[in-house]
Amino acid sequence: MKIAIISGSHRNPSQSEKVARHIEATLQAEQPGMDTWLYTLADNPLPLWDQSLWEDNPEWNARLAPLREQLAASDGFVIVTPEWHGQVPAGLKNFFLLFNRFELGHKPALIVAVSSADGGAYPVAELRMSSYKNNRICYIPEHVIVRNVEKVLNADAADNDAGADAYFRERISWALGVLAGYAGALKPMREKVQLHHDKFGNGM
Ligand SMILES: Cc1cc2nc3c(=O)[nH]c(=O)nc-3n(C[C@H](O)[C@H](O)[C@H](O)COP(=O)(O)O)c2cc1C
Repeated sequence: MKIAIISGSHRNPSQSEKVARHIEATLQAEQPGMDTWLYTLADNPLPLWDQSLWEDNPEWNARLAPLREQLAASDGFVIVTPEWHGQVPAGLKNFFLLFNRFELGHKPALIVAVSSADGGAYPVAELRMSSYKNNRICYIPEHVIVRNVEKVLNADAADNDAGADAYFRERISWALGVLAGYAGALKPMREKVQLHHDKFGNGM
């Protein structure tokens, strides 16, 4: 099985990428045989959606092909998103315009929101409300909000709030186990059920 981790911050470096790298290391250490792929939106590697994407533009196809391949080969996702002005960053919303049900559809995803203070709830609500309709990504009921992120998951223990750091390491580890369970359970479902219907290409 394979889990793709998307780090949604445009900043480089960013706290979201720190969290994403911790998540990748945890999956590799705790989920035997699990393959991982981390993709970061640092420095905006993806152009904004434009109409030619729907017109078989060869430039778009060449650019997206390797990403489509990685996403299509994944059985689940971790979407790491900072809260920026109470929202998901524009680059992450753009990501959800560029990839579709053939890459993301009917695969479980864990939302991990990141805040330097006590925020982080708004991006969870936003992703659950408006990012899944056409691509059919399946957000699992569990999510994680890493608050006061600068004080946790740092390589140097001296930079961490020990109590909060231990809590988030344990919570992330547990949530990833739940995600892995959904990934294993939904894989045979996708093989058994006719998921794509010509008439119902988009969600309602
Ligand atoms: C443009 C911008 C807007 C932000 N707005 C919020 C916010 O609304 N709520 C919040 O908790 N943190 C906010 N922050 C702080 C982030 O939580 C903080 O930068 C944190 O490290 C996560 O972002 P990062 O992954 O880009 O580092 C904002 C940061 C930026 C750059």
